[in-house]
Amino acid sequence: MILVLGGSGLLGSAILRHLHRQRYPARVLTRGMGDWRSSNIPNLKQQGTEVVVGEMTDPNVLAKAISGCTAVIHAGGSFFQSNAQTMKSEHLDVVGELARIAESGGVQRFIHVSCLGASEHSASAMMQYKWEAEQVIKDTRFYWTIVRPSYFFGTSFPFLSALLPVLKLKPVIPIPGAGLCELEPVFVDDVANVIVQSLYNRGSVSKTYEIGGPVTYTLLEFIELVKEYMKIKTALMHIPTDSADKTAKVFGKIVKNVHTDLIGLMSVDSICKNEEQQLPVELSGMTLEEHLGTIIQNL
Ligand SMILES: NC(=O)c1ccc[n+]([C@@H]2O[C@H](COP(=O)([O-])OP(=O)(O)OC[C@H]3O[C@@H](n4cnc5c(N)ncnc54)[C@H](OP(=O)(O)O)[C@@H]3O)[C@@H](O)[C@H]2O)c1
Repeated sequence: MILVLGGSGLLGSAILRHLHRQRYPARVLTRGMGDWRSSNIPNLKQQGTEVVVGEMTDPNVLAKAISGCTAVIHAGGSFFQSNAQTMKSEHLDVVGELARIAESGGVQRFIHVSCLGASEHSASAMMQYKWEAEQVIKDTRFYWTIVRPSYFFGTSFPFLSALLPVLKLKPVIPIPGAGLCELEPVFVDDVANVIVQSLYNRGSVSKTYEIGGPVTYTLLEFIELVKEYMKIKTALMHIPTDSADKTAKVFGKIVKNVHTDLIGLMSVDSICKNEEQQLPVELSGMTLEEHLGTIIQNL
C-alpha cells in the first residue's frame, strides 16, 4: 500500500491518476473538507482509494495512515498559506514527525515533494522550510527521492491565485525589487509522472530531481502575460526589497487572505539549475499558455 499525503490536492490527484493507471494500491490522508455534498471522500473511495480522515499534524492520525504501507509519497501541505505558523508546521514540522513514524512503521520508500528554489538562505521563509525538510529526509534510512518542481499548473495555477490580490491592486501593482527572478511553470501531470515512475526505480533512489516547464519567464514577463490575458491595464511599480517587508504588511491590511510569504516568493528564482540530471521519464513539453485561458476562467 502506498500512502499519498495531499492526495486530494492539485498534485496529489494527478499522482493518484498515475498510480491507478499502474494499478498500484493507494491510500490518501485528507481532512475531508466541506460538507457531505462537497467532500472529496466519496470520489476518492469510488476510484478505489483507501481514505484516512484527519490532520497530518496529528501523530496519531499519521500512525494510522502509515500502518501497513511500504511507501509514502508526501505531496501534502497547501502551497497557499495565509498563516506563518501553519506554513512552518505543514512544510517543516510535519516532515520530521512523518519520517519518524514512517521509519518505525517499516516504510522503506519515501518520495518527498519540495520546491525548486528551496534553499537555506532564501528570501522566502517557505523555501527555507522546504530546504530544511529536504535535509530531514536525506538523514533518514529510507530509499528516498526528493522532487523539486517549479510552480505547477493544471486546470488551476496556485502561484497565479496567490498573486491575484496584487494584480488587482490599484492604482499600481507593486513589484518587489527588479522582478527579474525567474520561474518555469510546469504541467502538474509531468510532475506526477516523474514521481510515479520513480517509485520502484532503483536509479531514482537518493536523487533530487528538478522539474521545470519548457518556458522560462521572469516575474515581470509572467505578470505582463497575465495582464494581457486578463486585460489588466494597471502600471507596475518597483519597490526596493529593503522596504518589501513594510509593503507586505500594508498589503496584509488592504487585501484579505494574502499568501503570508508572497513577497518572498516574488523575490526568488524557481528554475532548474542541474543540467546533468536524467529524469526517469520524458516531460510532455506542455506550456502554461496552452492552459492559461482555462486557468484564468477558473480563478
Ligand atoms: N502548487 C505549486 O505550484 C507547488 C510548487 C512546488 C511545490 N509545491 C508543493 O507541492 C505540495 C502540494 O501542493 P498542491 O498545490 O498540490 O497543494 P493543494 O492543491 O493546496 O493541496 C494540498 C493538499 O495537502 C493536504 N493537506 C494540507 N494540509 C493538511 C493537513 N493539515 N492535514 C492533512 N492534509 C493536509 C490537503 O488535503 P485536504 O484539504 O483534503 O485535507 C490537500 O490534499 C505542497 O507541499 C507544495 O508546497 C507546490
